[in-house]
Amino acid sequence: MTIQRVFVAGAGLMGHGIGQVLAATGRRVALYEPELDRAIAGRERIAGNLERAVTKGRLEAPQRDALLERITVTDAVADAADADLIVEAVFEDMAVKTALWAELDRIAPPPSIFASNTSSISIDGLAACLSSARRAQFIGMHFFSPVPVMPLVEVIRGSATDDPTEAAVRALSAEMGKQVIVSADRPGFIVNRILMPLLAEAMRGLEEGLGTAEDIDIGARVGLNHPMGPLELADFIGLDVCLGIMRVLHEGLGQEHVRPPRLLEELVAAGHLGQKTGRGFYRYPRSREG
Ligand code: CAA
Repeated sequence: MTIQRVFVAGAGLMGHGIGQVLAATGRRVALYEPELDRAIAGRERIAGNLERAVTKGRLEAPQRDALLERITVTDAVADAADADLIVEAVFEDMAVKTALWAELDRIAPPPSIFASNTSSISIDGLAACLSSARRAQFIGMHFFSPVPVMPLVEVIRGSATDDPTEAAVRALSAEMGKQVIVSADRPGFIVNRILMPLLAEAMRGLEEGLGTAEDIDIGARVGLNHPMGPLELADFIGLDVCLGIMRVLHEGLGQEHVRPPRLLEELVAAGHLGQKTGRGFYRYPRSREG
């Protein structure tokens, strides 16, 4: 399978980074959001990332310009009509994802690969919204944030995913400089199965008065050598995203240690979603687009 043109659905925290690393391989990328302003904002974030790379001497200005030129923005799903690969990175919600995939199924050419950046939702569950002929090309391709920095892609095969699809996604991941791990289609896959209990336990510790948010995070950073403490990492990922993943884990596994903590539910209900809204477990000087 040759992948030349890519359609990335979702230009938020994950989608803009995915668009950037795909364009860095020389491919043309259409960055889609239903509201054009959000797609433009995603492209501007890419431009900001590239500008930092130029300032640090890691990228030449002409390469930056060429990379940006390969990324177009769109609010039309119909632009997926010539895509060899579609990567979906929209909100982690079954209904949102399946509505989009069902529409893409009607538009995209039959041989195109359908890859979901789902971080926890079952690949077979998502594939059920597709025509049966399409399911062989449907696969999980889970990136980690910040996408240009984190060198991992978690690949999840559904029961219908075929070998050429997995091989194409593996080859593309290698081109992007990402190491691949393969997870079974189980709730949270490999990384969030490990990560979310840690985040949930830190949140429950804060609820109980075990320590301050700062001390809990310093405990993980200094005592365990983690690059970020669990509470600042949750703010960075997005508290709504963490809550969604914990719900999938809790419903799928039925284990108490992945039950979403009350404090997390309350923060999300209050609209405090972490860095992107300017407030989560911590406050941030200015809000950033999610
Ligand atoms: N976008 C793009 N690049 C970024 C970035 C961003 N948001 N944040 C930092 N970077 C780049 C910097 O430009 C810098 O690049 P250079 O090496 O070229 O200079 C590099 O990352 C290191 O950045 P800093 O020196 O500013 O900061 P740092 O050393 O503290 O590293 C970090 C920042 C890479 C984010 C680090 O704190 C880290 O690794 N944190 C943990 C991240 C993590 O766990 N991610 C996975 C989350 S789980 C997930 O994404 C999936 C899911 O399903 C929930």
